Amino acid sequence: MSILIKNGRIVTATDDFTGDIFINGETISAIGKNLSVEADEQIDATGMLVFPGGIDPHVHLEMPFMGTFSSDTHETGTRAALFGGTTTVIDFVLQKQGHSLHEALEEWNGRAAGTTFGDYSFHMAVTDFNEDTKKEIRQMIEEEGITSFKTFMAYKGALMIDDRQMVGLMEEVKKQGGMVTVHATNGDMIDYLIQKNREAGNLSPLYHYLSQPEVTEAEASERFIDMLNYTGCPGYIVHLTCEGALNAVRNATKRNQHLFVETCIQYLLLDASLYEKNFEGAKWVMSPPLREKKDQQTLWAGINQNLVNVVATDHCPFMWEQKKMGEKDFSKIPNGHPAIENRIELLYSEGVDKRKITLNKFVEVACTNPAKIFGMFPQKGTIAPGSDADIVIFDPHKKHTLSAQTHHMNVDYSGYEGWEVTGKVKTVLLRGKVAIDDNECKLEKGFGKFIKRKRVSNAIMNFE
Ligand code: URP
Ligand code: ZN
Ligand code: ZN
Repeated sequence: MSILIKNGRIVTATDDFTGDIFINGETISAIGKNLSVEADEQIDATGMLVFPGGIDPHVHLEMPFMGTFSSDTHETGTRAALFGGTTTVIDFVLQKQGHSLHEALEEWNGRAAGTTFGDYSFHMAVTDFNEDTKKEIRQMIEEEGITSFKTFMAYKGALMIDDRQMVGLMEEVKKQGGMVTVHATNGDMIDYLIQKNREAGNLSPLYHYLSQPEVTEAEASERFIDMLNYTGCPGYIVHLTCEGALNAVRNATKRNQHLFVETCIQYLLLDASLYEKNFEGAKWVMSPPLREKKDQQTLWAGINQNLVNVVATDHCPFMWEQKKMGEKDFSKIPNGHPAIENRIELLYSEGVDKRKITLNKFVEVACTNPAKIFGMFPQKGTIAPGSDADIVIFDPHKKHTLSAQTHHMNVDYSGYEGWEVTGKVKTVLLRGKVAIDDNECKLEKGFGKFIKRKRVSNAIMNFE
């Protein structure tokens, strides 16, 4: 099967020109102006932007967490992602403390394999680093194609590891050529503040926010960065939200460390005033919490200063009934919010259309850098001969309104209900097949493929 996309404005992280793309089978075979080739199907992209399929490297699908499971499965989550122009996601496998990495991988494979619409990969969350886990790191990288290892400096008793384990893990991951990623907040300090607020009878969602002040994130980010520097391990901070944490990153740039930073769309657009809406604030209870307007400005600037490399979602949806588990106590509200479907359109509308970032930067942080940092480039993340034909055809002028009534995520509210957005995904191709066309899914369940990843691309880090 071949497809010719004609006359679109083709945008990558570095290019911007009008031309045609010829797709033969699963990959891009030629790019040029007025290509004269015969194709089985032709798509007229006049007036449209044509950019690489989005990559969301931070999603939690059907994740067991806080006594429940996130409500999007690998099936519903990857389908919703496609509607929003994201063709590949990276989900998190969680090791259970006292159990092996392989056991956890088997559990996640059991849920994901054969069920996804879109392509996917896994990060391995190491929650119990010991002599046995250590032996599994090389196997994960070389045999399973899982090259990034997630750590939590919070959620004590469930996911958190201590600094001793962190340094040990970093040494092993560096040796084997992988990357350590982190949820960087000071878990002990947060637990102390949660307990203090509960004892004082401060139980509304606002106190979730007040139990995780900026310093808890700034301190842990700096500590993580220093441990990375000491061990020489490449690292990645997930969902960075605030000025204090970004200052720690900025300081580290003096040392030329291999450090990469992600923020999420919600931290660029939403702020902590939402927690003042009484229990409705539970919709945005996530960790770290939403911050202040000044932090949003810092994050947009951080993107333009190349300090923030990726805009992800941390998609971790819960139905309203699940959120209500914490109606009487904020510490029982399952943490997380839905965004997998909204990221690309919101980033375009609020970032590019409102002139905060360039079109090339938009592609860089939403598509290309996640592929480079997580070892999928140039198979994914760009439009180039030989790359997978993962392509978004996007109408930059179409206005629409985000709503739970129309979204495809398996969650009964939207964190962005009523948001007016400029720019809409029109057609999405995944490995040369039309996946979405005019708001209709054309793929079958199971089309999505597990992507075995390589190490960080030399396009972003010269480590040979
Ligand atoms: O609130 C969040 N972020 N939930 C998902 C788990 C995590 O910390 O990323
Ligand atoms: Zn986290
Ligand atoms: Zn997360």
